[in-house]
Amino acid sequence: MDRLYAQESLDSDEIVYLLDRLDEESRRRLHTLAHQKRVAYYGTVVYLRGLIEFSNICKQNCMYCGIRSANKTVSRYRLQPDEILECCREGYDLGYRTFVLQSGEDDWYTTDKLARLIADIKRRYPDIAVTLSIGERDDETYTRLFEAGADRYLLRHETASRRLYQALHPTMTFENRRDRLLALKTIGYQVGAGFMVGLPGQTHEDLAEDLLYLKELNPDMIGIGPFLPHQATPLKDEPAGTLEASLDMIALARLFVPNALIPATTAMGTVHPYGRELALKAGANVVMPNLSPLSVRPKYTLYNNKICTGDESAQCRFCLEQRIEGAGFHVDMGRGDSLNWLSSP
Ligand code: 5AD
Ligand code: FES
Repeated sequence: MDRLYAQESLDSDEIVYLLDRLDEESRRRLHTLAHQKRVAYYGTVVYLRGLIEFSNICKQNCMYCGIRSANKTVSRYRLQPDEILECCREGYDLGYRTFVLQSGEDDWYTTDKLARLIADIKRRYPDIAVTLSIGERDDETYTRLFEAGADRYLLRHETASRRLYQALHPTMTFENRRDRLLALKTIGYQVGAGFMVGLPGQTHEDLAEDLLYLKELNPDMIGIGPFLPHQATPLKDEPAGTLEASLDMIALARLFVPNALIPATTAMGTVHPYGRELALKAGANVVMPNLSPLSVRPKYTLYNNKICTGDESAQCRFCLEQRIEGAGFHVDMGRGDSLNWLSSP
């Protein structure tokens, strides 16, 4: 582990060896090392991002996801551009300087509509960063949205195992996912990758692949959370990923890619009441409170028992600030760009 701290990498066999043997004591050591690494790179600040879930309409059919197209039991919604702008206004007044626009793969939102929306947001709020999380699109769309003012893009790789990826994504390919991530990087976005922990059939070898893939891609952001079953998906009876395994992967991601921004995800807060605080103590340094209108919150359910679906945006903002400070960290409301990106030419 100390070698991992010093060299910020291990090979696949070494990762598997470590994961096979983690116990309470070595786990505590791992989390402490990840915390030290985070402090060395980012200090004790935690960046807040306002999350706007603007459409749960999705043409894809991921086996784990509650808003997959085959799920006819979800009540579908789509916020209009003016409603999204209203969320941004509320968010800006609450102090947010990053907005994350997230949705299913909803083609009603054409390149033109998205470009206009992004340009409108940037015109009104020139000092904020716009992060997109809207799935796979072609090069032209990614380029035009970047030119319209989008700064960052979240596209989790979901799993670096080709076998698992193909079993879980009947409408998508492993190659295309990787190709899209590279395209986003080439265009100039700050790019977020990431994966789920505890997917059905996932082994320590698969998780080692995830870490090595992250090391190679060198993303600006890394989203990690446990797989959580949703009752209206084919994986409804599968066990959820655990808090412990997810914390271990967050800690390892911090040690492998020290300059990345790593959120303490909503899924971490769902799997355990203090999951997000524990994630912050194991290397995470971002929290994404929900800014979506209350009326649509319960409809954006990727998995069961999702937290924060009944809280006003202002409540979420202050609840999280208290929790973050209570865990010994400091909220930073700035744009919070990744160190990787800030240091690139
Ligand atoms: N459990 C945990 N995470 C999920 N996601 C989607 N469905 C689930 C689930 N059932 C994650 C995916 C996606 C992100 C937006 O949410 O990793 O990229
Ligand atoms: Fe849309 Fe999974 S079905 S992200």
